[in-house]
This record gives sequence, structure tokens and C-alpha cells, in this order.
Amino acid sequence: MKKPTKPRLNADKFYKMRQDGYTNKQIAQRYNVSVSGVRGGVSEYRKWRKWVQRDNQEPELNAIETKLPKFKQAIKPVVIRRLTYNDNNADGFWSRYKALKKSKRWVKIFFPFDKHIPFHDPDAVALDAEIIKSIGADIIIHGSDIFDFPTISRHEPDYELQQSPSFDDCYERIQSAYKEDTDRLIEAGNYPLMPFIFGNHDLRFNEMALSGRTPKTLLRLFTDLIKHEGRVHYLGNTQELLLDSLFIRHDGGAGQNVAKSMTTKDHTVHHVAGHTHRPDGYTHKAIRFTSHAMVVGCRCDLVPHYETNRGKYTSNWTQSLGMAILDTDTDAVQFTNFMYYRDETHIYAIDGTTRYSVPLSFTGVI
Ligand SMILES: [Fe+2]
Ligand SMILES: [Fe+2]
Repeated sequence: MKKPTKPRLNADKFYKMRQDGYTNKQIAQRYNVSVSGVRGGVSEYRKWRKWVQRDNQEPELNAIETKLPKFKQAIKPVVIRRLTYNDNNADGFWSRYKALKKSKRWVKIFFPFDKHIPFHDPDAVALDAEIIKSIGADIIIHGSDIFDFPTISRHEPDYELQQSPSFDDCYERIQSAYKEDTDRLIEAGNYPLMPFIFGNHDLRFNEMALSGRTPKTLLRLFTDLIKHEGRVHYLGNTQELLLDSLFIRHDGGAGQNVAKSMTTKDHTVHHVAGHTHRPDGYTHKAIRFTSHAMVVGCRCDLVPHYETNRGKYTSNWTQSLGMAILDTDTDAVQFTNFMYYRDETHIYAIDGTTRYSVPLSFTGVI
């Protein structure tokens, strides 16, 4: 290997600061040099170091480091930007998604939307994990009304729920269920990518904090909960995600046929949505592109908590689990919406000749 040119003044320090996570701009400010000077120095030092290490020139490296004159100018303090509630790990998601597409042409994506913790149905959630485990998942879209936050609704709070819109109450009720649910999905999917999108219910917490009803700093705690120690990719305050030709969002709109209205509004992509708790599907054949749409069902209690004492309620809500197999080469997509049924002993879903089932955790009145 040819001996590279000796690095410029302070290049070793630039390099070390870059390793420590400082940006070129911050280093440039600290040493009062230009950003391109920092970049050049880092690159020179990297080459030099490589050469030293490969050709076993350790003494040379030490020599250059000790020979560098001491920096005399007063050092400006470097202020690292404080994290805010909206800090996200979206970059990590996109680079991993890119890597996934390089290794796989067909990407399997699951949509276990509308759990409404703490009003989730444990049997439906168990069946989600069973299906995901059998098929395998590359990506699980997390969130999309994963929480309910009934006491902090903009609508009139439910009389029968003790109304205490404090952070502690909200947080304590959701956090253990969220962690348990996330871990179960990670294990079932064998460590899939898990981007998080907000549903309108999840956003109630943000709205409460931003309206001043609870300290904004608590949003940070909520965001940290969502991230689940980095295992969930927090994409920011978004209810949407576009994965190549697949447009995923929490709310596809209201109406009789949500899937149809999604494709007719935009037939250049495929659509997936939750929110209405009523599974639906539609295919729109446009001139150049056939656009598919799927609305997935919920996994919350089919008889809502606020109706249990009233006796007459018949829910239109339906439980189902959505799956998409996305062909990242051709933009084609194959949707499957696993409808959930029950008999006396089990909750199950049938896909072709395969039956997925888990025993009911309780039988009788649902
Ligand atoms: Fe929902
Ligand atoms: Fe919703």
C-alpha cells in the first residue's frame, strides 16, 4: 500500500471527534476551521491510520500524534443539540429497509392495527402472534391506535371510567401492556423491522401534552416508551408511511367503502389503512397500474368497554390481521386479510387450507 500524505494539523482530533458523534460543523466551530477542512482532515487521517495499521507502522502514528503542535486558541464549547420529544430513529429504519430489499425481493409486512390498549382482546392478539410466527415477518407496522387513552379524549370522557386525565394514570395503564405486546411481536416475527405510525387515539397523548394539560417533557417519556429501547423505529409524529408502492396510513377516510375511495383518490400506489375496524378490500384497474387497497380489522374488544353495561349494543367492528407481500422489483402487491372467527373453544383464521388458531382464554360471553 502506498504511503498516504501526512494528515494536516489536528486531523487526528477531528477524526476522534467524528468517532464520538460530533458533526463536521461542530468540529469546525470548535477549531475555527472550515467544514471542508474538517472533512479533508478526517479523510486524510483515516487513510493514514489505515496505512499505519495495515503496514504495522505504529511508531509512525505515535510520532505524528506527538509531533503535532498543541492547539493554542481558546476552545469554544460545543453545544450538543438536546433531544426533543420528536427525535426519531427514522434514519435507522430507512437504511435497514434498503438493506432488506437488497437481500429479499418479496417483503412480508403485517398490519396488527387498532389494539386500543387497555381494551385489546388478548385472544385476538395471541392469534396475531400465531399467524406471524407461522408465516414469518420482515416488517410489522406497529402503532395505528395501539393505545386508546379513553380519559383524555377530545370527546366527552366516559362517565363510567374514573376520569383522571393525569399522565401517571394514562402511562401506567398502557406501558406494561405495550412492552409485552411489542416483545411478543418481535419474537413471533423473528426480529422484524417495526416502524411506528400514530393513530388518532395514540395522538391524544401528544395533543394533551401540547395543549399544556400535562408537561411537554412527558412526551419524551412517551416517545421513549414507543421506541422500546430502540427495538421500534419511531418515525416522528406521523400517521403515514410510504414503502415503495405501498401507502400505509392509519385513517383511510370514512364512508361505505373506504378501500374503494382510497384507490380512486390515488391509483398510482397500493393502500393499507385501519381506523374503521371493518375489513375491506378493493382493486382499481387503471391504465398502467392495478392499485389494490386493504382496510384491516381491529384487535380490540368487540363489545366496547363503554357498552358493556348497556346490553343492547351490536358491534360492527370486526377483527382481522392484514398482510402484504410486496414485490420490490415490480411494485406488485399481494394482500391477505386474515378474518378472525370464534367457535366455543378457539379463535381462528383460515387461509386456503391452513387454519391458524389459539384456544380462547375465556369462553362464554364475549
Ligand atoms: Fe381504532
Ligand atoms: Fe383510529
